[in-house]
Amino acid sequence: MSTQILIDSKLADIAREGLMREHKALPPWLFYDEPGSLLFEQITRLPEYYLTRLERALLTEHAREIVSAAANGSRLRILELGAGSADKTRLLLAAVVAAQQTVSYQPIDVSATALDAARRRLNAELPGVQVNPMLADYTAGWQPAHHTGEERQLLLWLGSSIGNFEPESAQSLLARVRKSMRPGDGLLLGVDLAPRPGGKTREDLVAAYDDAAGVTEAFNKNLLHRLNRELGAEFEPEAFAHCVEWNMERSRIEMHLESRHRQSVWIDALGEQVKLAANERIHTENSYKYTLEAAKNRMEGAGFACVGHWLDAAGWFAVLLGVVGG
Ligand code: AVI
Repeated sequence: MSTQILIDSKLADIAREGLMREHKALPPWLFYDEPGSLLFEQITRLPEYYLTRLERALLTEHAREIVSAAANGSRLRILELGAGSADKTRLLLAAVVAAQQTVSYQPIDVSATALDAARRRLNAELPGVQVNPMLADYTAGWQPAHHTGEERQLLLWLGSSIGNFEPESAQSLLARVRKSMRPGDGLLLGVDLAPRPGGKTREDLVAAYDDAAGVTEAFNKNLLHRLNRELGAEFEPEAFAHCVEWNMERSRIEMHLESRHRQSVWIDALGEQVKLAANERIHTENSYKYTLEAAKNRMEGAGFACVGHWLDAAGWFAVLLGVVGG
């Protein structure tokens, strides 16, 4: 993931809106400043955080099959939402290069640093890939330009990033993206699956967001450090507990910061104090988990026919390929 570029006044507005209300909440994309992005990179390597590992294994094993199903005899060009370091994407790009010698790849991200690093690495490792980075916040009304070339476009949305969107926002983002696509263009979606009897348990999920080494706790509390750094707030991160819960009804993992005692915290940029009761929470993230059926429905609801899916042996994570009909 990547760094959200914000001007302080925007962050101040978000903090005021989120912290001065009855049910306190901050948007999850605030996690990804420079230190937060580094912590997220560490999360992806944790033993408990199976998502990245399983998705990488699926792409390693099935890249050729995925690419040939998406291309269906045509040449492909690749776009990627929230590309970050494009680490797993290299597996797919290598398969496209093997099939058609060269490929145009457009990573879309809000972090210029991540885009630059991805471009340099790909130029060095996969010379057949022509990288055209795009600096954009795809969460905010962004729509890919209509493509007039011969190739089919394959849009990647990996890492179960869809899970951090409220269901309606995920649906409208996909529908928006779909509008710029032509028949035959595809969407490759990486989705973390919900627990099910005999498979992944609620405990497995909670452990992925509450690891023994405390990296996810540090990631969650980096939000408070960020408000201290950028808004002159006086949060004491140790005065908050990292709380992770499985909300079965809404099929999502929730992360919160829970105040260990009653406290008032000064925020300079707001010129006022945030008041927290003992055990009061700041809701910091939802990570929705889909059944395979629900993920297919989400794709199909946005106008993509699901033409293939790949699962790990235990059925914990899925990669789905959708194609625009016509
Ligand atoms: C980026 N996103 C898909 C991660 C997730 O699993 O929801 C963010 C994350 N939050 C805590 N750990 C990882």
